[in-house]
Parts: sequence; structure tokens; C-alpha cells
Amino acid sequence: MAPIRCEIFDPLLPEPQAREMLRLCEGFGRYGTYAEESVADEFGNVLPQRYDAAVNFVRTGGRFARREAVETLAARTNYFRETYAYGDEIRLPGIEPFHRHEAFLEAARKIHDRPIVRPAIVYANVLVPGQELAVHTDVPEFRGMNRKQDPQWLLVAMHHSGLFERWRMPIATAVAYFEGCEGGEFVFYPDGRDGAPHTLAARHNTAVILDTDTVFHGVDRVADGERAIPPIRPGAELVFAGDGSWRVELGGEILARYRWGEIRFSVSWKAYCFADAAEERAVREHSDDVTRAQALATLMADLRAREKLGEETLPDRELALRIIDEYIRFPAPREGA
Ligand SMILES: [Fe+2]
Repeated sequence: MAPIRCEIFDPLLPEPQAREMLRLCEGFGRYGTYAEESVADEFGNVLPQRYDAAVNFVRTGGRFARREAVETLAARTNYFRETYAYGDEIRLPGIEPFHRHEAFLEAARKIHDRPIVRPAIVYANVLVPGQELAVHTDVPEFRGMNRKQDPQWLLVAMHHSGLFERWRMPIATAVAYFEGCEGGEFVFYPDGRDGAPHTLAARHNTAVILDTDTVFHGVDRVADGERAIPPIRPGAELVFAGDGSWRVELGGEILARYRWGEIRFSVSWKAYCFADAAEERAVREHSDDVTRAQALATLMADLRAREKLGEETLPDRELALRIIDEYIRFPAPREGA
């Protein structure tokens, strides 16, 4: 397997611009918990969207094989997210220099060896002390299939199967850290799931760029000292409270207060990478799309060839579980943990 390329930026921006990212983040003001999109058809709902990553997290207890109540695990992973730019639409004025950052564009071209790079999204993730992000790969996209219309676990399994490369739309992802925090290291497996994990501290004004659709990655727990994690559920909001402080609100109640330096603030940047204008045109004109029916037929034929499926027709949910089990293999938790 070819080495998976990643690049680290340290520092990422001139310091005044990095400080400006913090002011922009504060100015945005309110951050809701990350809500999973849903797919509005029956097959799209046979399993939760990221059933693969959630089950692995609960089954293994994460990278350090910790055992905790499911509600606590949920509070740890209900982190905060808001979108700053989507395609060319700027939702946070001032984010433009980051959105079009030349160093990202240049690195993205190298990640996939593709010269045309089109920024797709810029969003902030904020994790509070005690939160972490289970190891996963991001949801990839194919010409004709994406997370808006197809189940995320299916797209992830398709990519890991290696059977749909012809239709894949390679994406480069950069993650940048501002202010920084204790703990909350970015952990990734650049040498594949059997290789050693690498960790990067979430240090102010640094960034990493890689193919997060292929490379397993996650976020280690943000340092929480002796504090218990507040019961953060969907609907909670992280709100800037002025003078460097933040609070978590839920149903009119304040669950917790934090200061910069305690929370983990990162800004992610994703861009489509095209080989040439013809490939970009194929996306626009849908001239060479893969369909869900075709994807499922291909996976079922492959499962049969691997003797993981007989001639029977499985109920949708059973088939979904078998696909996830066969194609999405996670890195093992740490030895002896
Ligand atoms: Fe990710």
C-alpha cells in the first residue's frame, strides 16, 4: 500500500491572523451539538448513520478501552459544531482568508496528486473537558452517492471495500487548532489500522492535512481534571459569555462554565480534489454516476465471493450489519489498556 501522505503546519498563520480566528469564533457566539443528518427513505434508516463508529466505540470503550455507562459515553461524544462556510457561501464574514488559504490548497493538491482543488466546507468543532471523538473515518463521497441521499455507514463501507474507486471524489481535510488545550490530542493511523497510532497535540496555530476518509482518526479526551462531564445532550449549546469565557446551556439551565485554554477549538477545512476539468464536469453533469442499487449489488456479489453471504435475500438491517462487519475494520484498542 502506498504511504498515506499528511502534512503538518506549524505555525499555520501569522500570529495576528491566528488571534483573529479566536475573535471570529467568539463572534459566531453559539454552537449547537453536532446533529446527525438523516436520509429520508426506508433503507436510509435501517441503522443510525454512523452505526459503525458508535458500535466500535461502545464495544471497545475507545482507544484506551475504558468502560463507562452509555449515557456518559454519549455526553463525551456530543460535541459542538457550526459551519463557517459551505461551498462558496460564507456564513462567517472574516473566514475568507482561511477558506482560501493557499498553503491548504497547495498541500491538498499533493495529498491526492490532483491539481484542481475546490474548498467544500469550513466548520468549527468544539470539545469541552471530558469530551472525545471516537476513532472513525469520515464519510466519503462518490459521483452519484453522498451523505445527503445515502446512509453514511454505506458510503464508509463502500470506500473501505475498495470496489468503487472509479466513482470516488477524493477529499483533502485540514484540521487547524487555535488557542489549544490540555489533552484532546488528534490521534491518527497514517500507516493503516494495523500501524501505530500517531498523536498531535491540539496546539495553538497548528494544523494537519490528510485524507480523513481513508485514515482512521479521532480525538483523545480533553483534560477534565477531577470534574465530571456535564450531561450534554442534543439541544445543548456552547455560548460565548464574554471576557474569554464560555458556558454550556441546556433548556435554559447552565450546565458548565469554561475558559479558553480548557476547551478544544478546531476549524476543519475540506476540499474536493479533481484530476482534470473532465472529471469535474462528470460530477456536474452526472455523466458517470454510481447508484445505490449498483453499489449494493456489487457489495453483495463480493460478499458471496468471500463466502460471507449465501444465495438468500437478507432483510435490509441484516444486510447492513453484514456489510459493516465485513468492510469496516477498526484499529484495535491499545495493547494492555
Ligand atoms: Fe473525522
